[in-house]
Parts: sequence; structure tokens; C-alpha cells
Amino acid sequence: MNEPVRPLPRPLVILISGTGSNMQAIVRAAQAQRWRERFGAFVAAVISNRPDAKGLAWAAGQGVPTAVVDHTVYPSREAFDTALAEAIGRYDPHGRALVLLAGFMRILTPGFVQRYAGRLLNIHPSLLPAFPGLHTHRRAIEAGCRFAGATVHQVTAELDHGPILEQAVVPILPGDTPEALAARVLTQEHLIYPRAIERWLREAGA
Ligand code: GAR
Repeated sequence: MNEPVRPLPRPLVILISGTGSNMQAIVRAAQAQRWRERFGAFVAAVISNRPDAKGLAWAAGQGVPTAVVDHTVYPSREAFDTALAEAIGRYDPHGRALVLLAGFMRILTPGFVQRYAGRLLNIHPSLLPAFPGLHTHRRAIEAGCRFAGATVHQVTAELDHGPILEQAVVPILPGDTPEALAARVLTQEHLIYPRAIERWLREAGA
């Protein structure tokens, strides 16, 4: 009798800088949708550039390994990115990890992006290509947009560009504050990021 085919391990390494609610959505989806059994995919580590990122405690409480690479102690972007790649490498022995930026508020060097080309995803709280960068919600309100949203995309060397994998649209309501809009967008982020990852894993195969 043939053995059932076991997918090769696919570590998921999630990079955060703060609350980590998108990271939580990914961890929950991985469990609920049985990504390990289906794709060999498991959340191997949550890494933060900020020692005080709230999401670290939540991840540790779930039994997910955590690490901190504090950007403030490195003299340059290149030095930080080298240390970050080393930290990722500890959880990625075969160079197969899918690296997920989830509220990771650092601009990455082209060398880092190149190293993970095709397996580096980001979520951004706007309908890219509109409003790359910071303060997206305030800028969308001030521009008079009727709709805002979020985008999951492949990361390329240019900030908040790269092929779009998923988007969600929400209305901007009269009197919206950036905070109210951010909260409305965030609920959609928690749906589209796991969906994009699930599709990436399915299409990548074993
Ligand atoms: C999310 O809205 C995410 O899209 C955004 O930061 C927030 C993180 O929330 N990311 C960026 O702005 C990246 N340019 P979380 O820590 O609760 O996931």
C-alpha cells in the first residue's frame, strides 16, 4: 500500500511591530484550516523589531516561538536586515519559509527583498496603488475618497508595490475619523490576509 504523500515543511515566519492582530488571524486560520496537514505549513516564529510589541506575548501564549531583532541597536538598514535574515534563517533551515509582514513597520533593503523573492508578502491598509506609505486612512478621508480598503501583495523593492494578491473594499462614511476607518479596514484585513496565504500555499504546492 502506498504511503500517503506528506507535504514538505513550509515554515511561516511572521514579522510584526505592534499589536499583531493580523498575525493572530494568520495563526488562527492556520489551525482552523489545517494548513500543516494540507500544505506542511506551520507558524514557525513571530519576530518583532520592537521588544515591546504586544503581539509577542500573545504568540508566546500560543506556544509559537518568538524573537526580537531590535532595529535601534543596528547602525544601518543593511546591518538590521542582515540580522533579521539570520533570525528568520533559524526557523527556515531549507530556505522555503513564507515570510509574512503583518504590521511590520520597517522599510526593507533591496537585498533583503531579493533574498525572499516570491515568498515575501505584506498587507497594507489601503487600496494600492493608492496611498502607499503612512497615514493611509487620514489621507483617504482628506482626499474625499468614498471607499478605502486593504491590499495583500508580494513585496518588491519598491515600497508598497508588487503584484496584488487580495483586496477588500470598505466604505468611508460621513464623519469618519482615521481611527474609525482603520478599525473598519482592519476587520477586512483579518479575512484577506489568511485567504491570500491559503491561496499562495495551494498554488505553491509541496
Ligand atoms: C495593519 O492595519 C496593517 O495593515 C498596517 O499596520 C496595521 C497593523 O495592525 N500595516 C502597515 O501600515 C504597513 N505599511 P496589527 O499589528 O494589529 O496587525
